[in-house]
Amino acid sequence: MNITESISLCRPDDWHLHVRDGSTLATVIAHTARQFARAIIMPNLQPPVTDTAAAMAYRQRILDNVPAGLDFTPLMTLYLTDNTPGDEILRARDSGMIHAVKLYPSGATTHSDAGVTNIEKTYDTLAVMAECGMPLLVHGEVTDPDVDVFDREQVFIEQQLMPMLSAIPNLRVVLEHITTQDAVNFILDAPERVAATITAHHLLLNRNAMFAGGIRPHHYCLPVLKREQHRRALIEAIRSGHPRFFLGTDSAPHARRAKESGCGCAGIYTAHAALELYVEAFEQAGALDKFEAFASFNGPDFYGLPRNTDKITINRKQWQVASEFPMGNEDTIIPFRAGESLQWKL
Ligand code: NCD
Ligand code: ZN
Repeated sequence: MNITESISLCRPDDWHLHVRDGSTLATVIAHTARQFARAIIMPNLQPPVTDTAAAMAYRQRILDNVPAGLDFTPLMTLYLTDNTPGDEILRARDSGMIHAVKLYPSGATTHSDAGVTNIEKTYDTLAVMAECGMPLLVHGEVTDPDVDVFDREQVFIEQQLMPMLSAIPNLRVVLEHITTQDAVNFILDAPERVAATITAHHLLLNRNAMFAGGIRPHHYCLPVLKREQHRRALIEAIRSGHPRFFLGTDSAPHARRAKESGCGCAGIYTAHAALELYVEAFEQAGALDKFEAFASFNGPDFYGLPRNTDKITINRKQWQVASEFPMGNEDTIIPFRAGESLQWKL
């Protein structure tokens, strides 16, 4: 059998990324811009990015941190609240810089307190989005404390997402960072206006990784890692080559202090080696031939944006991940696979 030593592909984009703000930007934007041409930037800052003016100012702060010589375009998003006015959606659309609106159920994850308390409250706004072709990005987990944390995605799909899709017939929706067999099946059965992103860490890890030899805060993210059966379903999804699954890292930097804590934050940082990690997962899945469409074609096609034209090459080459990266002057980010070896290098 031939071993692939190198793969060349059209430059990819990251369709789900957290870059934070302020002094964190310098580290994380450099990591992403090294690999990706564009990224959908999550709006869960504190305070959240709820209007066009804030998104445009944030966009400029991101651009100010793109290292010289790299070409990187942030694709901005708005944070949906119970009261986002329809006018704001039209302003966002007219800006040409805002490509989606993000739904966080209130309390579902990091910085989601200002999120939606009841999805039905947003239906009028969602109707405006459907009308003007603005996609909705969904953090698909219910927040009901009576629902087991491992079941929250599945319950969200049944109780909230399906009724919402029926109520707003033309809305384009991306179910973000899917983690379950239920979500994969849902996408396979869903109309063409519905797609999903898949992270590298959900392809590589099952929930045992959170408890390997002790509690592992750097493997804690939301939606939380699931059992092996669900990871296998994600692998089958990428092997299928289905066009409505695409790359979204959900790379989510947190200060080491905030992760290694009595109440540690959710989020896994993968931006430093995102493509290398995905290639590892695709190779394990025997699906390297499906990687280019997943990473570089399916996302822009769904968003109605042009595909990138330049190429990148990823080689089989062992290298060691740094043990940490600076987060401003005060703290550090512990990356996924900190201090370990990876087998592919961009
Ligand atoms: C994200 C973050 O830290 O902003 N955390 C995470 O675990 N993925 C928020 C999110 O996408 O849920
Ligand atoms: Zn996220």
